[in-house]
Amino acid sequence: MILVTGATGNVGSALLQELHARGAGPLRGLTRDAVRASFSKGVEAVEGDFADVASVKPALEGVRQLFLVSRIGSDADILDAARQAGVEHVVLVSSITVQTHPHLGPADENLAVERLLQGSGMAWTILRPTQFASNALWWATSIREHQPVRVPYADIGLPTIHPADIASVARVALTESGHQGRTYALTGPERVTARQQVAAIAVALEREVPFAEISREEAHRDMAVFLGDEAADAVLDVTGGDVNDELLKVRDTVSRVTGSPARRFHQWVSENAAAFR
Ligand SMILES: NC(=O)c1ccc[n+]([C@@H]2O[C@H](COP(=O)([O-])OP(=O)(O)OC[C@H]3O[C@@H](n4cnc5c(N)ncnc54)[C@H](OP(=O)(O)O)[C@@H]3O)[C@@H](O)[C@H]2O)c1
Repeated sequence: MILVTGATGNVGSALLQELHARGAGPLRGLTRDAVRASFSKGVEAVEGDFADVASVKPALEGVRQLFLVSRIGSDADILDAARQAGVEHVVLVSSITVQTHPHLGPADENLAVERLLQGSGMAWTILRPTQFASNALWWATSIREHQPVRVPYADIGLPTIHPADIASVARVALTESGHQGRTYALTGPERVTARQQVAAIAVALEREVPFAEISREEAHRDMAVFLGDEAADAVLDVTGGDVNDELLKVRDTVSRVTGSPARRFHQWVSENAAAFR
């Protein structure tokens, strides 16, 4: 039994679809609301909330492979529960910032979860993806309402990754041999700036999308309301304010692990254009 957590999210939903399409399984998806979740037929939806580890324990029964999104509840307790349930292999979504920006709080938290997993006694595979293409959904409301997309660092290109590529790497790691004890830094196939991302969305919508570059201070004011000061600063650093070669590097890990080229940002836009209409 494979349990996918974050199963309704960008990566988890793609992973369940891919596992199901390839006949892997049996499969289970964790969500806080099984009625709202729409999994493929044959995927068992189980409810559980990481904020309450006891609620996740039934979902872990019989599970041998676990896909884990982290930093939602107590990762130490969740890993403990997984080990006690007999989980043999955990594929963890961490972040590339562990190696590009280890001084930032969120990166330090991701590193702490990686270490917990490595010391858990279970086999592990760690995925360290860069910024997701799906982060463009942050602009969806503005674009739908014909308001300008307001971003700082408009011309810094990052090797944005399609969440389905993270899912493909996770699928291979969960179902094929040779990936235990490995840490994979994952990027898309090219660097894409925010300006280019918005232009790609405009092409898909066949209309102009207004765009305004704003200062770091303005962006911080907007973001801190939702994220708090420290997290807003961290996001601003890793999206343009304090980039470095390690973060900007395009890597071939996705194609090496999956055998298929990494998907371009344009593909993500064509698959998700409806969210911006
Ligand atoms: N976005 C980026 O650029 C980036 C970069 C590096 C790493 N990451 C990490 O990648 C992971 C996956 O991201 P994603 O975009 O696929 O996620 P997402 O689309 O934001 O979805 C979040 C998922 O987490 C689940 N969830 C939220 N709170 C929960 C709780 N209390 N208990 C159990 N499940 C809960 C949600 O399930 P329900 O709502 O159905 O319960 C949902 O499936 C995240 O851990 C994120 O931190 C993201």
